Amino acid sequence: MSTQRINIDPRVAQNAPTLRWAALYPIRTRDANLPSRRPPVVATVDALRRAVRAERRAGRRVGFVLTMGALHEGHLSLVRAASEECDFTVVSIYVNPSQFTPAEDLAEYPRTFEADLDALTPCGANLVFAPGDEEVYRPGHATWVTVGGPAEPLEGRFRPGHFRGVATVVLKLFEMVQPDAAYFGRKDYQQLLVIRRMAADLDLPVEVRACSTVRESDGLAMSSRNAYLSPDARRRASALPRCLGRAEALVAGGERDAEQIARQMREVLQAAAPLEIDYVVLADPETLQPVAQVVGPTVALLAARIEGTRLIDNTILSPPTD
Ligand code: PAJ
Repeated sequence: MSTQRINIDPRVAQNAPTLRWAALYPIRTRDANLPSRRPPVVATVDALRRAVRAERRAGRRVGFVLTMGALHEGHLSLVRAASEECDFTVVSIYVNPSQFTPAEDLAEYPRTFEADLDALTPCGANLVFAPGDEEVYRPGHATWVTVGGPAEPLEGRFRPGHFRGVATVVLKLFEMVQPDAAYFGRKDYQQLLVIRRMAADLDLPVEVRACSTVRESDGLAMSSRNAYLSPDARRRASALPRCLGRAEALVAGGERDAEQIARQMREVLQAAAPLEIDYVVLADPETLQPVAQVVGPTVALLAARIEGTRLIDNTILSPPTD
């Protein structure tokens, strides 16, 4: 038996069957000290369900953070938010092949599993679910989730099939974990809308929570893909947040014409050439339909490729009300 001290919530101590899990998992209550050893890892749906069921039976609120690993502060901020609002936080690490288009970087996607577990240790993650492909996509897998509406424009056009892969794996992971709340980053704004749409349309009993974008010191949104950038490309990538800053400044200065704003945003990006713009769009923050005038909260979204690395970012423009 390990001699490590484990904080056992009194509610768990009263519930004998869960003591088995209490012995396995360092349980973090909202006011307990953060754990100092790596969270346990399970790779099968059976083991995951056993662990989470025990927590739920003990009356605990289960939070869930879905990731593809290569964890950075953006991911960790979601884990911290989940562990502040929930009693038991599950983090999945799974590079989902079905959301990569044939032209994309599945084989090269960064995989840093050991470092990820170390990074999660002080953040309040109670359990890591790291399944293999065969556990997620069993032989004969033939069911896919296709979301319309917010999944159609922008990333939906540039990465055909991407959101079908995302929605399918997110629904599957929701079913495997059955969390009370799941945490997503606003960094992937369209993905957030797609998951909210799916959760509402399919009556999923999960609260979808959105967290702010975490940025580097020059404003570049943190992303696992930033690791692909050469030092020169990395410097030029700071044009993305500057471009969003230009939009914010224009709106604060009274500009309301979406095409004017988008044109000036493109100029900021073009000054960082060579850089290819996929889109710069001002859209309704719920439907993602383009707007002509910025008269209420509007989302500015952009996607650009630098040295073949595709980066996305967004910001909410809020014109001051008169
Ligand atoms: P991944 O790119 O690993 O991102 C996992 C979660 O971290 C997403 O909710 C994403 O929006 C959030 N995130 C990424 N960068 C962030 C940043 N700089 N600030 C705040 N949050 C950030 O998104 C996916 O994986 C996958 O599509 C997934 C949902 C796991 C399905 O496979």
